[in-house]
Amino acid sequence: MAKDKTTFTCTECGGTSPRWLGKCPSCGAWNTLIEQVAEAGPGKNRLSAPQGYAGLAHAQPVMPLAAIEAQDVARTPSGIEELDRVLGGGIVEGGVVLIGGDPGIGKSTLLLQAMDALQRAGLPALYVTGEESGAQVALRSRRLGIDGSQVQLLAEIQLEKILATVDATQPAVVVIDSIQTTYSDQLTSAPGSVAQVRECAAHLTRMAKGTGIAVILVGHVTKEGALAGPRVLEHMVDTVLYFEGDTHSQFRLVRAIKNRFGAVNEIGVFAMTEKGLKGVSNPSAIFLSQHSEPVPGSCVMVTLEGTRPMLVEIQALVDSGGPSPRRLSVGLDKDRLAMLLAVLHRHAGVACMDQDVFVNAVGGVRISEPAADLAVMLAITSSLRGKALPRGFLAFGEVGLAGEVRPAPRGQERLKEAAKLGFSVAVVPKANAPKKPIEGLTIHAVERVEEAMNVVRGIG
Ligand code: TYD
Ligand code: MG
Repeated sequence: MAKDKTTFTCTECGGTSPRWLGKCPSCGAWNTLIEQVAEAGPGKNRLSAPQGYAGLAHAQPVMPLAAIEAQDVARTPSGIEELDRVLGGGIVEGGVVLIGGDPGIGKSTLLLQAMDALQRAGLPALYVTGEESGAQVALRSRRLGIDGSQVQLLAEIQLEKILATVDATQPAVVVIDSIQTTYSDQLTSAPGSVAQVRECAAHLTRMAKGTGIAVILVGHVTKEGALAGPRVLEHMVDTVLYFEGDTHSQFRLVRAIKNRFGAVNEIGVFAMTEKGLKGVSNPSAIFLSQHSEPVPGSCVMVTLEGTRPMLVEIQALVDSGGPSPRRLSVGLDKDRLAMLLAVLHRHAGVACMDQDVFVNAVGGVRISEPAADLAVMLAITSSLRGKALPRGFLAFGEVGLAGEVRPAPRGQERLKEAAKLGFSVAVVPKANAPKKPIEGLTIHAVERVEEAMNVVRGIG
């Protein structure tokens, strides 16, 4: 097949070069040249045409927004409830979903289960595997107890062949496992390179929009936790889901971080079992480690991302450090930790300057909401002092630079969930204090960090 000519374009200045160079010849930036298929035909620089645009294309009809009928998108539930929850109800016709996560976390397992469910619900599904052989996928399906499945399998990594197969078989939904192994013949870059990933994703997205076939792309995650390949991938697709969780623990979270067809930050919870992923419909207590006695450096918070409250244990370890003490956080924002330590020092007189500080959200869950602040601070203080918080204690609330404690959204729901699980003492922002008492729960409402510290000292 004759290859289209490719050029290398600078992501900084847009300058081009016929071959790859380390340094952009136009702006001098390093490592910014990305391979692209050159646009064929005349009029490449049309937009600068001095004679105006009228001769280049016909004007298109426009319509007032009010005259356009809004249509609900048609969704087909996959039948896997926790997955449908994050998708916003199910698979959308022509929708493109990107699903990312660490290796071995369960992406292929979940998608194989979902495709089988969709196939049985009457949606023909095509599973394109580039990472494993057909035999390996068959082995997994046997393990999942779906070896009689009618899901069509294609072991292929070349984009053009994949697109031709989709065209010939006309499935309703296609899984590409993974986008990093897929490569296009049109580019000379290696599979997995930024140029290849971007080009393949763009073609598949265009195919989805043109045909109404739903496409699910599996993406790898880098060490830093971002999807490998360009951020542009996240912009191209309709929905971005991330797998979270510790591969050593049984539980996995799937979080929607972008969804054009549903709510973001919705969470699906699964447990990895011997027979694949099983939905956990009542996940509120799975991120607590079961201490028989309260231990220093641990504080429970209620997080509410998506629609369900979940109790998560925040752990801190403060230990004397060297000349440049370390700050490390797992599952929580590192910059925010530095900020909270400064607030602790300035407003509550708790100094950790010469200490190593480690914080961790139990179970590999990632908490991005600032409502974790108060629990992080209390866990740090508890570890520094070597004094455990009382049994049945929890705290949540955002902390500002001035030492103020700000309310968390939907505080009542969080408190009710905690009470349901047998928690008995809570330190919460004043604005979150319920008007009517919650049975079994003593609530201390605070406005400032120092107040929270005093409350803890009083009840500890
Ligand atoms: P996999 O879906 O291959 O992960 P990914 O595609 O994200 O890389 O998951 C593989 C892991 O899950 C592997 O460590 C084995 C485990 N597993 C189970 O525990 N039970 C099962 O039924 C299956 C299919 C896998
Ligand atoms: Mg896989």
